[in-house]
Amino acid sequence: MSRMRPRRRRTVLILGAAASLAVADNTVCSGTGMDWYVDLVGETPCTTYQQLRQICNSQFTVGVMDPNTPPDFCTDQVSACCCNSIAFALSMLCLNCQQNIGNGTGYDAGTGAYQDYLNGTDSGTGTSCANPQWYQLPTDIQTAVCNEKIKIDDDIYTNGWTDGAWFYIYTRDTILKDAIVANNNTFTKCASTTVNATSAASGPGSSTGSSATTTTVRAGGCRLRMGSRSRGRTRRRFFLFFVFCVLFSCRIHACVLYTFV
Ligand SMILES: *[C@@H]1O[C@H](CO)[C@@H](O)[C@H](O)[C@H]1NC(C)=O
Ligand SMILES: *[C@@H]1O[C@H](CO)[C@@H](O)[C@H](O)[C@H]1NC(C)=O
Ligand SMILES: *[C@@H]1O[C@H](CO)[C@@H](O)[C@H](O)[C@H]1NC(C)=O
Ligand SMILES: *[C@@H]1O[C@H](CO)[C@@H](O)[C@H](O)[C@H]1NC(C)=O
Repeated sequence: MSRMRPRRRRTVLILGAAASLAVADNTVCSGTGMDWYVDLVGETPCTTYQQLRQICNSQFTVGVMDPNTPPDFCTDQVSACCCNSIAFALSMLCLNCQQNIGNGTGYDAGTGAYQDYLNGTDSGTGTSCANPQWYQLPTDIQTAVCNEKIKIDDDIYTNGWTDGAWFYIYTRDTILKDAIVANNNTFTKCASTTVNATSAASGPGSSTGSSATTTTVRAGGCRLRMGSRSRGRTRRRFFLFFVFCVLFSCRIHACVLYTFV
């Protein structure tokens, strides 16, 4: 199997995104009823929902949500992203986003809607979810969410009714109340989306660019950021680090300790 070069793959992705935009963008909200969510998160709930499901199904795009709930079904073969109460809550918020709910009470879901969503069908015969999760994402999916900096509000993790129903006003008011309580710092399941108290003054940093992980090493007053992209150069890096460390610190023994231990 031949592998696409990263640049080419990126081009294909951009072309693909442009094509799907041209067809229909169901992530856009109708009217102003969900402005509260967009103001808080910076995107529509349909976008959040789509990003979550795309972790498990790169081809997934949000369709037209069905007002006869459940608005959508969990039908992906790799179903871990949608076999949970968090994806269902986002699908309900997405339904309310697509409908022009204005100042109204929005769309709720009746008893059993969540179970139907998991089953992947209204008839209760589907088998999409072997291991549905309440109030949490599987560990690997949560890690992916954080890596992709997908903003899922803390309250969405605790949102849900065991009988499978769902309520818009209660959900909206809980999220907005807790946003005021926490000064909008309500995306704390990921370090990448948590507003740090110390850096809050300069605003939440939006880091674009390289996705290579960096490690900060401290030793006797020395501080060096090391990219972990190329492991082959590790030894030369350690030598350079040692020299750097010695130059900027009088404590040679500390540098030896931190560099080579
Ligand atoms: C919190 O977000 C709202 C928009 O949802 C904004 O109007 C408000 O100024 C923000 N508050 C803080 C403390 O950042
Ligand atoms: C919703 O209520 C606000 C404030 O009462 C009002 O300004 C706005 O026009 C209303 N929007 C709709 C769509 O009815
Ligand atoms: C699927 O539907 C059946 C019948 O409604 C229900 O008993 C079952 O719990 C559902 N499965 C899941 C995974 O929710
Ligand atoms: C907040 O701090 C953590 C831990 O130091 C860091 O990983 C994260 O990127 C920071 N988040 C933001 C938004 O700056």
